[in-house]
Amino acid sequence: MAQVTLTDVNKVYPSRHGPVHAVEDLNLTVEDGEFVALLGPSGCGKTSTLRMIVGLEAITSGTVAFDGQPMNDLSPEQRNVAMAFETYALYPTFTIADNLGFPLDVRNVDKVERKRRIDAVAKMLRIEHLLGSRPRQLSGGEQQRVSLGRALIREPAAFILDEVMSHLDAHLKFQMLFELRRIHQSVGRTTIYVTHDQMEALALSDRVAVMSNARLQQFGTRDELYDRPANRFVADFIGEPPTNFLEAQVDGADGAMALAVDGTDLRFQPDPERLAAIRRDGLKRVSIGIRPQNISVHPGPDKAALTARVVLDEFLGEQSIVTVASGDAQIRLTAPPEFQVAPGEDVTFHYRPSDVMVFDPQTEVFVA
Ligand SMILES: Nc1ncnc2c1ncn2[C@@H]1O[C@H](COP(=O)(O)OP(=O)(O)OP(=O)(O)O)[C@@H](O)[C@H]1O
Ligand SMILES: [Mg+2]
Repeated sequence: MAQVTLTDVNKVYPSRHGPVHAVEDLNLTVEDGEFVALLGPSGCGKTSTLRMIVGLEAITSGTVAFDGQPMNDLSPEQRNVAMAFETYALYPTFTIADNLGFPLDVRNVDKVERKRRIDAVAKMLRIEHLLGSRPRQLSGGEQQRVSLGRALIREPAAFILDEVMSHLDAHLKFQMLFELRRIHQSVGRTTIYVTHDQMEALALSDRVAVMSNARLQQFGTRDELYDRPANRFVADFIGEPPTNFLEAQVDGADGAMALAVDGTDLRFQPDPERLAAIRRDGLKRVSIGIRPQNISVHPGPDKAALTARVVLDEFLGEQSIVTVASGDAQIRLTAPPEFQVAPGEDVTFHYRPSDVMVFDPQTEVFVA
């Protein structure tokens, strides 16, 4: 088991169009036994980061260390990490059983133990019936599970998994997420899991590292990312449906300060903590962020009310997402499924001032 530390890590690829800075000044510590997801949009540098951790890619500058020992000059075998990637790279002439057993063969695990572990991993990933088949006879999702099994069969210092569920259907993915979480709880190995799917990241991880544009944006628990996003990018990327953003003027004197939204007469009332931060930073304009889950048709004693016209009512099973407009501003809010409303009608909605997030419109950094 190992603590994994990245210190000032950079990756620059040479290319015909000039150097590509794929990972910039990355500092990250994954604690021993922790499950961390690396989450971010396509091209943000997730795979490059993993490949530097496992030793498949040279580190341009900085240090990757396991338990404080620099790994930069060690081969993947010497680092003793188990990895699985989105593309399965199974041995085409081997049976599925032999593909799963391969990491054990190179470590001279005895036959009885080898069979026991293959059977256990196959059962866990629901591929027992495929053990005698060859990779080309398997679907993409089945091959992906074999590839994951080949990583899980070992007892490595750390598991490094890159988009290992991208080819699974929603139902199977849900089962695999559960299995992976269970495996992690029972063996307690440090796990770094790359995905661009926030649902996977938030369901599995102790902490999530959010990347964008080669840079780490925030590293925190689900609640920290949700309630105190470091910047607008994180607030937008985490949460479904996405956060509403509104540009606003800071209006009124100290006692009666409000955030007047551009192009409409809607005014949001943030709580005292946020007002104090706006005053401290001397902001005249702000970007407001408010999550659809935090605006509803239910009134409450500690809530403020606003009215706007309904544009769209989408029924999504457990709740409805209602889009309302007032002047140029559009806002999405949530309503219970039985809530009936037609486009063109006015609806009054309610929010807690403490749920109004404020960002600096220039830097996009979280203010309060
Ligand atoms: N071998 C390479 N040579 C040149 N550029 C590369 C190379 N590998 C990756 N890149 C570039 O580095 C950036 C980061 O790529 P990376 O594969 O790490 O992203 P990612 O976050 O894993 O994306 P995805 O979610 O699509 O897998 C991209 O702009 C990519 O085009
Ligand atoms: Mg990738």
